Amino acid sequence: MPPLAPSIIYFDSVGSTNTEASRRAMQGAPEGLCVVADEQTAGRGRLERHWLSPKGAGLYLSVVLRPQLAPNSLPLVTLMSSLAVRDALKASSNFTPDIKWPNDVMANEKKLCGILAEAIETASGRAVVVGIGINLKKGSFPEELAAVATSVEDVTGQPPARDRVLESLMHELSRRYDQLQSLEGEEKIVADWCAASSYANGRCVRIANERETFEGITRGLESDGALRVEAASGDLRIVRAGDVTAVRPNNSP
Ligand code: BTN
Repeated sequence: MPPLAPSIIYFDSVGSTNTEASRRAMQGAPEGLCVVADEQTAGRGRLERHWLSPKGAGLYLSVVLRPQLAPNSLPLVTLMSSLAVRDALKASSNFTPDIKWPNDVMANEKKLCGILAEAIETASGRAVVVGIGINLKKGSFPEELAAVATSVEDVTGQPPARDRVLESLMHELSRRYDQLQSLEGEEKIVADWCAASSYANGRCVRIANERETFEGITRGLESDGALRVEAASGDLRIVRAGDVTAVRPNNSP
């Protein structure tokens, strides 16, 4: 597998970097194409949510990938991207964030970054567009979200240089993407994700999806990245979609 060769296109302002990267992937863009914007006017999150993207406040980017994976392994692309963001912030900003299933990077139990991976069929085969939004500065989200959102500046006391975080992220994304597609790479990504996430095992969580809401204790991941949760009845539930919320903070009695 040749290493990912990133090529970056910058926009002052764009609707959504995911939409722009998908458009270019449909036109045949190779993997490694990365769209970065200073602001997004129609940033998108999972489940049709908005992703507020004020000018200069965050890192908003989308990368085109063309992974050679079985369709049921595609959720691992989101998990490997979370690991890459974690590694990149560790290297560029000197702190180690937590990661939460399925697509969040966290600090102090608050959301710092969201990841939106979208699979599309193009004339040259399946592509996955990985969109990453990292709150860099305090102004990256409105005050009313302060109980659930945070930024690198909130954590470290300093607004980081966007391009340093970007450089580090592209490096770690290439590394983790190679790992994912290597021999036994899927198992390694699952193992590394479980080792890096305080949510992977023994966390009391609430799961909410279109069908139901229930509480249970996390019991690791399936090989395809689905979350195992032991429900109050003792049944082991395999969760493939939904939101996870901690029922109580980590390490509390
Ligand atoms: C989520 O937490 O629901 C995912 C949020 C993903 C936001 C990023 S910002 C860059 C890229 N472009 C988008 O429109 N969304 C992603």
